[in-house]
Amino acid sequence: MKKFAVFASGNGSNLQAIIEAVKAGDIKAELALVFSDNYKAYALKRAEEIGIPTLSLRPKDYTNKQSFERDLVIYLKERDIDFVVLAGYMRLLTPYFIKQYPQKILNIHPSLLPSFKGRNGIKDAFTYGCKVAGVTVHFVNEKMDNGPIIMQDSLKIYEKDTLESLTEKIHQLEHKVYPKAIALYVEDRLNVRGRKVKIK
Ligand code: GRF
Repeated sequence: MKKFAVFASGNGSNLQAIIEAVKAGDIKAELALVFSDNYKAYALKRAEEIGIPTLSLRPKDYTNKQSFERDLVIYLKERDIDFVVLAGYMRLLTPYFIKQYPQKILNIHPSLLPSFKGRNGIKDAFTYGCKVAGVTVHFVNEKMDNGPIIMQDSLKIYEKDTLESLTEKIHQLEHKVYPKAIALYVEDRLNVRGRKVKIK
C-alpha cells in the first residue's frame, strides 16, 4: 500500500475529509504522516487525536528554505512516504523539493484555476463579482497554483451569498472533491500528458 503525507499549516478541514476517506476505505493508501510548518496548526491536533504520526518543523529555525526542505525530505524518506498531499499548506515548495517527488505532489486550491491564484482565492472571486466559483485539484509544479489540473468542480454564487456563506460552500465542495481526486491518484488512474490529465 502506498504511504502518503499531508502537509497543512492551519485548520485542517481538508485533512479531516481525507482522514474520513481513508477510514472508509475510499482512499486505499496509508496516511503515514501529517506535517506542519506551524506548531500551533489545528491540523496536527486532528492527526494526534487518532494516532497519526505528526511532524512540525519551524522554517525560522533554519538558515534558509533549502536546509528546511532538506531536513523535511530526510524525514519523509525515512518514513517511506510515496506521495504528498498539500491541504492548506501555506508555503511554496522549492524546485529541490518538487524534484524529490516528481508528479507526486497534489494540491487543492479554492478557485477555478487559472483564475484567482494565491492566498485569497475565494474572496477574490467573490469581490470580482463572479457568478460561478469552484475548486481545483492539481499536481504541483514549480509555479504557484499552476500544475496540471486533475479535477475541478463549481458552484453558483447567488445574490444572497456573503463571503462567509460562499467560503462555507467552497469548503464543503473541497471536502467532496479532494478525497475523490486522491483516490484516483492512488489507484494509478491519472494519465498525465503535458498539461492534460486523463482519467483512465
Ligand atoms: C483550503 O481552502 C484549501 O483549498 C487552501 O487552503 C484551505 C485550507 O483549509 N489551499 P483547511 O486547513 O483544509 O481547513
